[in-house]
Amino acid sequence: MQLNKEILKSLREEFGDAFYLLDCGQVKNNYMELKEAFTAAYHKVDIAYSYKTNYIPKICSIINQLGGFAEVVSDMEMEIALKAGVCPNKIIWNGPYKNPLKVEELLLLGGTVNMDSISEVGLVHNIANRYPDNIFNIGIRVNFPINDHVLSRFGFDVETEDFKKALHLIENTSNLHFANIQCHYATRRLETWEPRAKGMIKILDKLNILPDRIDLGGGLFGKMEESLKEQFDSEIPTYADYANVVGDVLAKRFTNGSGSPSLMIEPGTALVGDCMKFVSTISNIKTVRKKPIATLLGSIYNVNPTLNTKNPPIEIYSMGNPQIYYEDLDFGGFTCIESDYIYKHYCGKAAVGDMAVFSDVGSYSVVLKPPFILPNFPIIGVGHGQTEVLKRAECFDDLFCTYKF
Ligand SMILES: Cc1ncc(COP(=O)(O)O)c(C=O)c1O
Repeated sequence: MQLNKEILKSLREEFGDAFYLLDCGQVKNNYMELKEAFTAAYHKVDIAYSYKTNYIPKICSIINQLGGFAEVVSDMEMEIALKAGVCPNKIIWNGPYKNPLKVEELLLLGGTVNMDSISEVGLVHNIANRYPDNIFNIGIRVNFPINDHVLSRFGFDVETEDFKKALHLIENTSNLHFANIQCHYATRRLETWEPRAKGMIKILDKLNILPDRIDLGGGLFGKMEESLKEQFDSEIPTYADYANVVGDVLAKRFTNGSGSPSLMIEPGTALVGDCMKFVSTISNIKTVRKKPIATLLGSIYNVNPTLNTKNPPIEIYSMGNPQIYYEDLDFGGFTCIESDYIYKHYCGKAAVGDMAVFSDVGSYSVVLKPPFILPNFPIIGVGHGQTEVLKRAECFDDLFCTYKF
């Protein structure tokens, strides 16, 4: 997405002092590049987009048009997928809590439900009994240790009786189809990917049945600008780095035959992290005990609601007011929280009225923005020199129509 002063000026005139920009072409490129990298390493690959990362319907429908699956973790997200036109058999429902009525609905439509706990074994058993003429796609989320030093609360500990019961149910119920074995680890470090793949093979080697898909979850770094890369304490792998590590393990175990399971991944950040920018306007600059501080129409909750301490890539565009050079300017947000800083220690020129553009804000931003102090800003799609309003600015009524005055 190429921006300059003139483009930003006209966007500001049309959409106001703060807005998000979504680069639709970049979403497409990332999907195709990721698919190519994994397909070069293993012969059957499916990508399920993790909706929770950024469920703007436009993104969901781009991924759907490219043949991707939808990875959802609630009936709200399932509804987004259905509304975006995703065929139910391309919806996979993960997560530790699932609305039982909606589980039944998705299963009847042909979607896949990954069981996460023994309670869901009972639920699936019950549904299978009540609909003996339907075949249901069931998966199991597994939990085994890898080198990430985290005790995950998700899925079945593979050493437990509960896991055996879940498998027993699938193996011994004629109308349950073993669609998926899934794991997910939050860390994005490359060295955790071989243990994920090997761990899955170890589990499958002990079973009498093979699932359609071996799903290694998400947790891949996406592309990002150098200034952001430098703030991580580990290398940022490429798509091909991840693909080669896991492709190698799986290709050794499964040959290119029709009966071999497909390799599934559930990227969120890797697909959309670098596809969004947040554009805002500097509303004032003050000095407090010699420290210069700018305030933006925008907040850390617009850009980085997980509150990590990294500075997003920033660009300041002069909009005509005389600029001053700053050695150490911090950009604070519109909220009344002391720690609400979007960017710290900026060196460069700035003035009131300038536009600040923050890049790589596509993951866990709009979905986690609370209605705190102000409603959210509009989201504008850009592509082929055109703009499209993907979400209008939120207004008072959007937030307060559920309250009683
Ligand atoms: C089950 C599952 N799959 C996929 C993802 C996407 O992760 P990421 O954005 O790291 O790719 C998550 C994120 O929490 C998840 O919980």
